[in-house]
Amino acid sequence: MRLDKFLALASVGTRKIVRNYVLEGKVTVNNQKIEIPAAEIDENADDIRYLGKKVVQIGKMYYMFHKPAGCITARKDENSKTVLDYFDIDNMDGLFPVGRLDKDTEGLLLLTNDGEFNHRLMFPDKHVEKTYFFWAFGSLDVEAQNHLKMGINIGEDEALAKAIKIEVIEEGLYQELKDKMNINEINIHKVKDIRRDSYPQLVVSGYLTISEGRKHQIKRMLKAAGCYVVYLKRVSIGELILDESLEKGHYRELTEQEINKLYQNDLITSA
Ligand code: URA
Repeated sequence: MRLDKFLALASVGTRKIVRNYVLEGKVTVNNQKIEIPAAEIDENADDIRYLGKKVVQIGKMYYMFHKPAGCITARKDENSKTVLDYFDIDNMDGLFPVGRLDKDTEGLLLLTNDGEFNHRLMFPDKHVEKTYFFWAFGSLDVEAQNHLKMGINIGEDEALAKAIKIEVIEEGLYQELKDKMNINEINIHKVKDIRRDSYPQLVVSGYLTISEGRKHQIKRMLKAAGCYVVYLKRVSIGELILDESLEKGHYRELTEQEINKLYQNDLITSA
């Protein structure tokens, strides 16, 4: 097995992080410093150490978390509540979030101690689809939807961002739809700001699917299409759908079937 893969599987860090550890000379194999992440090792016979400590395989953990708005996707933070603050399990040491959701975004977030799993879901080459439900101020006619599907400019020096799928669910006046919009506390100010400008205003809801994970990607794509997001929720990653019986702020272990689904998705999409 490759050395970087073994280290990620043993939860020393994500593939990217462990590769750097190897390049920085922090890893030894049978007492010899190895600085080649792709070096082949025998995981059953070799003595592999990170900063002198023997690396051993530990039990893998995979959790589905229904992220509420208001917490940040990090392990620790000085000022804000983090997603890890919602967890109360014995072995939290190696647990980390797979990818990132903004502070005001709700929905499906996976947490694991398996760096390899993280790599398979997050590595851009894997093209794992993520679907988000949104409410936004603005409207999305067929032309705007096609623009999103063809690829839209979300910033200089960046490749166009493409929607794999877009489905508009509802469109109408804010006044008529505001009770459905579910806007959370931290986004109320956005509505106040936008409503100062002009009346009447159109709002739109829908699902947008992307296969990349650039910063604020959905918000930036919809902004480029003339819409201003005031509610965002991730509903699926690959074949895995958020379990709606899981209340916001709650978590549960993924079933074996769900873990397999995610691995299967990787095999299909990276083929
Ligand atoms: N796109 C965004 O704009 N925000 C998220 O949290 C996730 C995707």
